[in-house]
Amino acid sequence: MGINVPLKVTITGEHAVVYGYPALVAAINRRIAIKICVRPDREIRITSRGVMIIGDISLICSEESCRGDVSPDHVERLFSYVLKAIEIASKIFGDLGGLDIEISSGVPVGSGLGTSAAISAGVVAGYSYLAGRSVERKDIASIARRVEIEVQGAASPMDTGAVSLGGVLLVKPLETEVFKRVEPKKALEILIAITPKKRSTRETVSMVRDLYNRRKTIVDHLMRAIGEISEEASKALEEGDLKTLGELMNINHNILRALGVVDCESEDIAEIMRTAGLEGVKISGGGWGGAIIGISRDRSRLEQALNSLLETGCTAFISSIDFRGIEYEEILK
Ligand code: PMV
Repeated sequence: MGINVPLKVTITGEHAVVYGYPALVAAINRRIAIKICVRPDREIRITSRGVMIIGDISLICSEESCRGDVSPDHVERLFSYVLKAIEIASKIFGDLGGLDIEISSGVPVGSGLGTSAAISAGVVAGYSYLAGRSVERKDIASIARRVEIEVQGAASPMDTGAVSLGGVLLVKPLETEVFKRVEPKKALEILIAITPKKRSTRETVSMVRDLYNRRKTIVDHLMRAIGEISEEASKALEEGDLKTLGELMNINHNILRALGVVDCESEDIAEIMRTAGLEGVKISGGGWGGAIIGISRDRSRLEQALNSLLETGCTAFISSIDFRGIEYEEILK
């Protein structure tokens, strides 16, 4: 069977959300496809197509060990999520034995677009389906979050919620209703540029944690300000006020700079977007590489910024919001 999961951008609020403050996140119409079926033996065979920048790679695991021409980086950024998702799903939904899993994506993992969340949620959803269980998307999100926490050490509910539920969400980790749906008044198009990730989310989260531990009062003010930005950004989106939304994104970006997670290459890309006249520009995700996002009320400015980025050889595209969330499909053989 097949599972189709959207990726996401963080409009505002990354890092602060780890400390319980609100974040605004949107699923985008770039998707990861996962095929999953039961094997007659107990092997787990995972193939990735385009998920790591280089072409296809495969890992084959028996109950004793794993083999395959894969690097420790592939294991850390991709296969560890798949294997952990299977381990956790099998404890919840029962043992299915061997599995064939094929993951395809046009966007590389670790690019700040929630690929690891999409892979975790997709494998959990596929596993539950094969086990004959009907599981709500919010429960898929929370199981996938456990996968992220066990692999990364820490993870907010943001990414797994966004890719499972789709649409735009105001994430409030400390409230009973963690996800509040935000209905944008106007269609939102987002320019997304991707730079190579220099540090993993685990590393950037721990860098910010160190700064927080050294300068608790000051950093807590910054986190609180980001939380307020997210609350206001969600209102701006509901009112269709993209100028205000852009301004809030710019302030958020500069706080992320103060937190030390914006590298020079990302800042150069942000500057290209600003020069093309985009009203709101910021990094999306943990930082130190990954995604840089930009918005404008004027589509032609988005296109101009896109062309300027493509001329520099950067990977970039314009995306709209995905409202479908995780989807299941029978694969006809
Ligand atoms: O870089 P990404 O897409 O994994 O996003 C990380 C976002 C953080 O807020 C830094 C961490 C989290 O778990 O929310």
